[in-house]
Amino acid sequence: QAYEKKKRLYELHRQTANYYYKILKTTPSAREYLSQRSISQETIREFGLGYASEDWSRLTDFLVTKGFTLTEMLDSGLVLASESKRHYDRFRDRIMFPIVNPRGQIVGFGGRLMTTGQNGPKYLNSPETPIFSKSYELYNLNHCKNFLDDGQILIVEGYMDVISLYEKGIKNTVAALGTAFTPFHGKILERYANEVIIAFDGDSAGKSATEKAMNILKKTSLNVKILNLPSNEDPDSFVQKYGQQGFLDAVAKALTIVEYELGLLKKHNDLSQTDGRLRYGNEAINVLKQLETSLEVDYYSKMVAGETGINQEVIRREVMRSKKRPD
Ligand code: CTP
Ligand code: MN
Ligand code: MN
Ligand code: MN
Ligand code: MN
Repeated sequence: QAYEKKKRLYELHRQTANYYYKILKTTPSAREYLSQRSISQETIREFGLGYASEDWSRLTDFLVTKGFTLTEMLDSGLVLASESKRHYDRFRDRIMFPIVNPRGQIVGFGGRLMTTGQNGPKYLNSPETPIFSKSYELYNLNHCKNFLDDGQILIVEGYMDVISLYEKGIKNTVAALGTAFTPFHGKILERYANEVIIAFDGDSAGKSATEKAMNILKKTSLNVKILNLPSNEDPDSFVQKYGQQGFLDAVAKALTIVEYELGLLKKHNDLSQTDGRLRYGNEAINVLKQLETSLEVDYYSKMVAGETGINQEVIRREVMRSKKRPD
């Protein structure tokens, strides 16, 4: 019974996506918006992008003609009820991004305003429903799982990062949508990948999200790296500017967690001063304690020794003393 109900919701989402897709075809302003963002017709089809018109109840009216009940529409989160019991569409005047699960079922939508400012937040997402939970779903996992030759997945922040990279031939990406990256997301990625590269926006919000995701991913079996973008770029803007090869070069230079954390320490300590070097050395030892093998400890001890002028063997010994995880 619960299963039948879910099946109806999947079907409702499928028909809604087709509907938004058709409206996009006949809405020049929306097509123009996507073309200005360098999204081709083929990619629009691949991602099933659409457009929700500005009318108050165009989708609601459409779903009625398709035989869906008001209860089903409200359960889907795509239709809302006002206080006066009138029903209206959640998404209006937005570019629509269907969220597809790995089984190919559409479970929700994200919608973007073409011009931001007035009519609500830039992005609006489906609410939690019987078939959609933000803390489980990863955007583009349905495509991504077919492009994992190297067992590597790039984690980006948003819809447009995924789509823009896809357009440029980089297809092994997922995004955690409008929410923090969760331990569930980590578990799901563990099933598909050996290595993940966190490629969030270069702004301060992206940086703090990076640290949170990093700390979640540390607890998985995944090898984790961090792509450090310039502060005014996100993967979309970066690949538009520097192209596929420019982006792949940046991926190749992605940092290990320890390199990234040492980099943060270096920002807070002046290595041209003795006290700065000593403080950095002390803090670095704590970072190195998370390393799992003595090989790695040896490698990074040498690196920190080079940066501080402290003897490598002294650093290595301090790291091994009271290490969090023994070899
Ligand atoms: N997001 C959201 N609600 C918002 C803002 C953002 O759900 N009000 C989510 C969206 O999934 C978005 C992601 O967070 O894709 C990253 O946000 P942001 O960097 O602001 O957007 P971009 O992905 O860069 O989108 P665009 O390039 O279209 O501005
Ligand atoms: Mn951002
Ligand atoms: Mn963001
Ligand atoms: Mn962004
Ligand atoms: Mn962007």
